[in-house]
Amino acid sequence: MKTVRHELVVLGGGPAGYVAALRAAQLGIDVACIDENNQFGGTCLRVGCIPSKALLESSHLYHEAKHGFSAHGIKLDGLQFDLDAMMTRKKKIVDTLTGGIDMLFKKRGVTPYRGRGKFKDNETIQVDGDEPVLVQADQILVCTGSRPARLSFIEEDGDRIGNSTTALSFPDVPERLIVIGGGYIGLEMSSVWNRLGSKVIVLEALDRIMPGIDGEVAQLAHRTLKKQGLDIRTSTFVDSAKREGDECVVKIKGGETLRADRVLLATGRTPATDNIGLEAIGLETDKRGFISVNEEFQTSLESVYAIGDCIGGAMLAHKAMEEAIVCVERMVGMKSHMNYDVIPAVVYTHPEIGMVGQTEEQLKEAGIEYKKGICPFGANGRAHTLGESDGRVKILADAKTDRVLGVHIIGARAGDLIAEAATAMEFGASSEDIARTCHAHPTLSEAVHEAALAVAGRAIHTV
Ligand code: NAI
Repeated sequence: MKTVRHELVVLGGGPAGYVAALRAAQLGIDVACIDENNQFGGTCLRVGCIPSKALLESSHLYHEAKHGFSAHGIKLDGLQFDLDAMMTRKKKIVDTLTGGIDMLFKKRGVTPYRGRGKFKDNETIQVDGDEPVLVQADQILVCTGSRPARLSFIEEDGDRIGNSTTALSFPDVPERLIVIGGGYIGLEMSSVWNRLGSKVIVLEALDRIMPGIDGEVAQLAHRTLKKQGLDIRTSTFVDSAKREGDECVVKIKGGETLRADRVLLATGRTPATDNIGLEAIGLETDKRGFISVNEEFQTSLESVYAIGDCIGGAMLAHKAMEEAIVCVERMVGMKSHMNYDVIPAVVYTHPEIGMVGQTEEQLKEAGIEYKKGICPFGANGRAHTLGESDGRVKILADAKTDRVLGVHIIGARAGDLIAEAATAMEFGASSEDIARTCHAHPTLSEAVHEAALAVAGRAIHTV
């Protein structure tokens, strides 16, 4: 078998891996990146963030045309959608973006290897692609990511009962869809299919949806999604799901049985660290499969590093990308650092949810005294012109120092608005810093400004 050598080899070409490889090449490192898929970009680009947002946008536009246009005086007759065209558009976006990585690799001099990579020893990965090859390197960076968690009592067949990948490519709109799990994936995919006409039931084991996000925001989201037609049932634990012919039968703890055309299992993700030869180098994971690393992202083996979903923490593409930059820069002696306190998160329901920093629940639990400023989008002119006056911005600031500790937004374009909050927090801003910054009018960002003013009890447009 052919043997090649590089300074750094990155195992996995998702947001963690491809970004690490590009940054390494930029820093003059001879780097290779291995991925078993034909397209680089990982779950995020191929079967996650990007295709789901493509479908969320298409389905939202259809829904708006059907229910929102008339308020603008726009009349439509014979409105229809073409699911195949939506799927084709989604594929084109994925192809463009994954093709972009190929182009960047080429231009920056990253050597790609396609095939399943497995450790042979702590400086060698065997890649089983069309032409098997042994790739050796001084340093190896594991970026193998995660995959949908399976539950032993759910009989997934990858067709009628499947995970998020399946739900991104349903061949037709299921009349009845049951979604198990009321987290990010469950609610985003429920939104898509609900807008396209499915009768969607979301079954969530906990007493609330989206565990981990600010409780008040989750409650508002629950109410809004319910109004949109989602049948969300909390405190509902699914005991089993199986296929019977063309139907799926879902049993709930307590005895109730539900039937649907399709079932989406969205109960979390699990690290993809098995079957990559960790045993060959004596690298152990914790019992859930996560690899432990130190501040340099180094594992217990000096030459082996790991970042992204496979080391745990927030399973978010941008957290992985940030770790990639910090990890590679530290390899060459730069003093980069990772600030885990300021990692924004966005849920692409309608309206969107954007958050960064601590929730009220976390602050209470930590015994931190805080002040709160709220601006409802109903007090924002731009929101009204968009027909998006639902939702609010909430800023939480330290009661003594006024430093911003958390910002939680539910409303139009919250995913974009949250960037201002993240930048402010990264700079250690006080709520007064935001309040004293002139925000353009009429923009949605004025709601962030107004919430900051409200922290000090001097909001202008709300009482
Ligand atoms: P999740 O952990 O966010 O939610 C899973 C939900 O399933 C939980 O609320 C849990 O209580 C519930 N559950 C578990 N077992 C159950 C059962 N037997 N019956 C009923 N409910 C049950 O996981 P999710 O939504 O699958 O997302 C996985 C990861 O992907 C997350 O870490 C998320 O951060 C990431 N992601 C991020 C997105 C974004 O940034 N917009 C979009 C999609 C996913």
